[in-house]
Amino acid sequence: MNTDHLLPEVAEVLDEPNEHRIEFCRQDRWVGYTAATKALDELDDLLNFPKNLRPNNILLVAGSGNGKSSILEYFTNRHPILVTHEGKPVVPVLKIEMPSKPDESEFWSLILWTLGISHREGDRAAHKKRQAKSAMVNANVQMLALDEFNNVADAGRATSDLLAAIRNLSNELRVPIVAAGTAKAINALNLDPQLKSRFEPIGLPRWSADREYRTFLASYEQLLPLAKPSGLSKAELANAIFALAGDTVGQTVKLLRRAAVEAVESGAEQISVDLLNGLAWTRSDAWQAVAKAV
Ligand SMILES: Nc1ncnc2c1ncn2[C@@H]1O[C@H](COP(=O)(O)OP(=O)(O)O)[C@@H](O)[C@H]1O
Ligand SMILES: [Mg+2]
Repeated sequence: MNTDHLLPEVAEVLDEPNEHRIEFCRQDRWVGYTAATKALDELDDLLNFPKNLRPNNILLVAGSGNGKSSILEYFTNRHPILVTHEGKPVVPVLKIEMPSKPDESEFWSLILWTLGISHREGDRAAHKKRQAKSAMVNANVQMLALDEFNNVADAGRATSDLLAAIRNLSNELRVPIVAAGTAKAINALNLDPQLKSRFEPIGLPRWSADREYRTFLASYEQLLPLAKPSGLSKAELANAIFALAGDTVGQTVKLLRRAAVEAVESGAEQISVDLLNGLAWTRSDAWQAVAKAV
């Protein structure tokens, strides 16, 4: 069987039972599209530059489903925890998800739990702050990644306290920060101009049915263990996928996975416009129509 349309390690999966192939289709993959690769390069600079040359902190901004968390995750995994010759732990990137509501005390707890430090959640914030800072120093944390930074917005005093805590942390420990969130994350930073001035925003643009999109589809096709090539990057199929999935990477990947599973289950072994049209799927414009109507 010709398997030129697949990566070698994906081609190997072709011989496995259908359930395994379906599971494989559903797993998260990483495709290094241009905007993501650029963002990763900037994060590397932030981590690697000496303190005196260090660029500004980074705020990754994009709508939901545009690949922000995936970038943070990929970056964190690329810089795993290690132990030095002297047996000291180094946590290159400490990643946490901001609490659903701004809460300084919970923020310190999250840092402590993520570093594996048990503590009393009910202790005063000032106490946990001291604990969290020394834990970060002990663990040699080099960079802080704060996902769902939009959660920091809209809570008056609690928001200001949390922003002040983050500003103080970055001042004292001099660890660079990458935050990720929707546009609301900018609203949050607006409340602390001093902190904001130390950030540079990087937007992840919405997708359009352009060459970049087709390249992404071509890469993703190599990751789906289907026996026949689909030619996802060809104009007709790419446009059909875009019309159904809309302008986010999240929906695009979700649609490709569903289509691949259907291609396995039905025996079609390739994704076609007909197969796409037969899926139970709400088109992206239909979602917008529903949203406008309510
Ligand atoms: N670089 C990528 N390669 C492959 N799939 C991706 C990539 N980035 C995002 N995805 C897919 O899109 C989904 C949504 O992305 P996510 O990072 O959670 O978006 P956000 O954090 O902006 O809401 C992910 O669960 C994953 O399936
Ligand atoms: Mg996210």
